[in-house]
Amino acid sequence: MASVVLALTACSGPPFWADGGGLDPLDPVAASTAPPTSTPTAEPPPPPLPARVDRKAVAPAISDASRAVLQSRLAAMKVGDASIAVRWATLPGENPLNALLVSRARAAADAFAASLGAAWAPGVDVAPGGTGAPCPRIEPAPRTVGCELVLAHGDLVGVRTLTEPVEPEPVTRTAIYADAAGTVIGDGAALIDPSRRAYALMLVARAIVDAEKTPGPPIGKVPPGSRPTATSAAPTPLPEPAPTAPTGPFVAVLPENRGVLLADAVVLASGDLLVHAPTAPGADGRGTRAVPVVIDAEADILSDLGERIVAALDADTVLTPQTAGLTAVDCGFVACVALTFDDGPTGLTDGLLDTLGAANVRATFYLQGGYVENRPATVLRTAQLGHELGNHTWAHPALTTLPDPDVVDQIARTQAAIAAASGVVPTTMRPPYGDYDDRIVALVGMPLVTWDIDTKDWADPGRALLVERAVGGPERGSIVLMHDTHESTVAAVPEIIAGLRGRGFDFASVSGLFGGAVPGGRVTHGPR
Ligand code: NI
Repeated sequence: MASVVLALTACSGPPFWADGGGLDPLDPVAASTAPPTSTPTAEPPPPPLPARVDRKAVAPAISDASRAVLQSRLAAMKVGDASIAVRWATLPGENPLNALLVSRARAAADAFAASLGAAWAPGVDVAPGGTGAPCPRIEPAPRTVGCELVLAHGDLVGVRTLTEPVEPEPVTRTAIYADAAGTVIGDGAALIDPSRRAYALMLVARAIVDAEKTPGPPIGKVPPGSRPTATSAAPTPLPEPAPTAPTGPFVAVLPENRGVLLADAVVLASGDLLVHAPTAPGADGRGTRAVPVVIDAEADILSDLGERIVAALDADTVLTPQTAGLTAVDCGFVACVALTFDDGPTGLTDGLLDTLGAANVRATFYLQGGYVENRPATVLRTAQLGHELGNHTWAHPALTTLPDPDVVDQIARTQAAIAAASGVVPTTMRPPYGDYDDRIVALVGMPLVTWDIDTKDWADPGRALLVERAVGGPERGSIVLMHDTHESTVAAVPEIIAGLRGRGFDFASVSGLFGGAVPGGRVTHGPR
């Protein structure tokens, strides 16, 4: 122990835990509550350091069932030969955690695009894996925000994010913890009891020095301009960096870097911490190395949140969200596609709704009024699950063959039937067979939505060709035509969703493609 203290002393002045009566004077929380140094009732001296135990430096395992609760999100863009990929994950519905993560994703995406001289415009086929698994792992790469699930147990969730820098902006790394209602509790620093922060930092420092002696990427100097910065839920200003950045493992525990070490911390089932120290400049100089920090029970450094997480990891139950429903998607920020299903409701529709619900996918249903009357409960459920309802006439005639009053009647009766079943009045209409002209546009009086991707599923093309058309055809803003009258179509939907996610698509209703403001007249696809 003495040699460690001496080494740190020699490198960067007095050990940081020796100041402020055991409290970190740079910590606003600790500083604001620190008793004056002359007060005799200052915090008692810390207990002896715990025995060094070899423990695995791995984040808690997340079960597939818990992972399935969360939805993977991706905002990606190509600018020339460069690419941008920003990942995050959302709980169902709308909640503060989703809002916080998407606001950070937007800020990073805008900064990345601006650094390339471009305005943000989402694309597909940019990031490997697309929107498949939520936050699989962090992969440091230029112009990326990587994310990693570090907790999804019972009523708690935790997401680490790492934002690669746009010079001269810094790397930012944060672990955000929230409850299952999406209420943000805090970042990694909130795992530590504020009064024990100085002692925790001492344990972190020792763990990093120990890690340096074991095989692995050398922990070292932070490359100029990419000094890590904490982005906590309640940001705290960090002091100016030292004029000359020291090298070696100690850089990670320099005052300006302590914030990010703790903000990015993960607590393990053992009650130990996992921190991520910056590694020495390598190929890209932007790596981190996971370092376990052994915490003995007597040290008592964990906050109530930290203890709560340890208990949740120990119980190891599936994440149970306290929010529900589909999450709003901004199709100006992520690349959207609209799946549309025509000619229902049918006996297949409820099964399709189950499939869409399990996959957190929003779709649009163009309903025939004559069928709505037969299955009002299905129509109500479709609306309640967050899907869009559209008007597909009463009996599916070719509208251009009908006189004006009959056209009006086909539309009006269907509007009334859908409203009676669901309480929703459709705001878009799809002409049967895509058959319409200027007269029909004028008579219908709402946007006439057709498609740019026709799967021709009604001709039973076989699963492979159907999936190829539905997955390979769309570009950003596409409207895909399918029918929930065909069992083969409904059966292929999971594969179609997975394929589109693999390309990086998110799913929106037709109105959602346009942010709710569908232009009048003819519509074949959303903004590109
Ligand atoms: Ni039709």
